[in-house]
Amino acid sequence: MTDTALDISLTVNGERVAERVDARKTLVDFLREDLVLTGSHIGCEHGVCGACTVRVNGEIVRGCLMLAVQCDGATVETIEGLSDTTEIADLQAAFEQRNALQCGYCTPGMLVAAQDLLKRANNNKTVPSREDIRAHLSGNYCRCTGYHAIVDAVQAVAQQRAGGKK
Ligand code: FES
Ligand code: FES
Repeated sequence: MTDTALDISLTVNGERVAERVDARKTLVDFLREDLVLTGSHIGCEHGVCGACTVRVNGEIVRGCLMLAVQCDGATVETIEGLSDTTEIADLQAAFEQRNALQCGYCTPGMLVAAQDLLKRANNNKTVPSREDIRAHLSGNYCRCTGYHAIVDAVQAVAQQRAGGKK
C-alpha cells in the first residue's frame, strides 16, 4: 500500500464494505484481490473485451476502466451477486442448455451485459431482436464459441420473459 491509499466504503452485492485502497487500483482488481470476488475477469485491461463487466449504481461499467476509489458510496453488483439473488438464473440455465460457453472466461461479462439489455427491454415492454442482442453484446468478446449460441440463449430468455414465464 502506498501513501496514495484512501479509505472507501461501498455496498457490494448487498453488503457494506469499508477498505483502504490504493488510489490507482482499478475496480476489477479491488473486487478480485481485496474482496476475492474473482467472477469478474480481466482480459484486455483497457476497456475492449468486456470480461470485467459489473454494475455500479445499476449501470454496467468496465471494471478495468473505473478506479475503486470512484466507487466510494456506490452500490456495486458483480456476477456473484446477480447469481446469488437468482436474478439471472434463467440466463445461466439458457447458456448451459445451449452450450453458449466453452472456457467460460467471457461468460460473467456476457451474462451481466445480457441482463442489462433484458432489464431495459422489460422496463420498456419490448423484446430485443437478434440484431439488438448482437449490438448490445458487441463490446463483449468471446474467444471460443462464435457468438451464435450466446445470441440464441439471450434471445430465448428474452422471449420467455416477454411471455411471463421467466
Ligand atoms: S478487461 Fe476490462 S474490458 Fe477487457
Ligand atoms: S467461452 Fe471462452 S472466451 Fe467465451
